[in-house]
Amino acid sequence: MTMAIRKEQDSDKESIWKVNAEAFETEAEANLVNALRDSGTPFISLLAEADEEIVGHILFTPVELTGDNSGLTLMGLAPMAVRPGFQRKGIGSQLVRAGVENCSIQGYDAIVVLGHPEYYPKFGFVPSVKYGIKSEYDVPDEVFMVLELKENVLKGKSGIIRFHAAFGDL
Ligand SMILES: CC(C)(COP(=O)(O)OP(=O)(O)OC[C@H]1O[C@@H](n2cnc3c(N)ncnc32)[C@H](O)[C@@H]1OP(=O)(O)O)[C@@H](O)C(=O)NCCC(=O)NCCS
Repeated sequence: MTMAIRKEQDSDKESIWKVNAEAFETEAEANLVNALRDSGTPFISLLAEADEEIVGHILFTPVELTGDNSGLTLMGLAPMAVRPGFQRKGIGSQLVRAGVENCSIQGYDAIVVLGHPEYYPKFGFVPSVKYGIKSEYDVPDEVFMVLELKENVLKGKSGIIRFHAAFGDL
């Protein structure tokens, strides 16, 4: 199997929808990806191709830290999906690593994620409460995590992270 990670192109939209619809229980996440893209918000969208077939996808869109006016630029990782037959082969990890690198190259300060607490720490994510940063959703502390892309950029920061309004439809 040859594996490649690359940025999405216009012609990938339908395949990306299918990957998300297959990986999640409902089509909500697949539709969310389209809604975010259509909203005009900036995004980083990467996909994993195995033998030229799209098998995985990861999306990053900007999130806001309430009350912060210091110009912090933060990305939210969501959603991420790998087609069921291709899971647990390291494809998700490759997508996360490539996504983190892309966010970093584009100059973002940090990335937040709401997800499995035993998965994301492998990539350096730590519970956001370490910084007094919380999710807008009522979730256990350990599932809302953050990764600094610049050293100490979150020092002294606190507040609530808000995702794009389209996430409200999930
Ligand atoms: C989460 C997901 C993207 C991971 O992709 P992947 O290619 O399987 O990830 P990797 O192979 O890099 O890593 C596998 C690890 O992920 C973790 N993992 C995967 N699915 C998990 C789940 N449902 N619960 C807890 N941990 C999970 C495990 O730690 C696993 O390691 P193991 O095989 O040693 O147990 C994929 O499982 C998926 O699409 N799930 C359905 C959609 C989803 O829940 N997305 C994340 C929320 S936005």
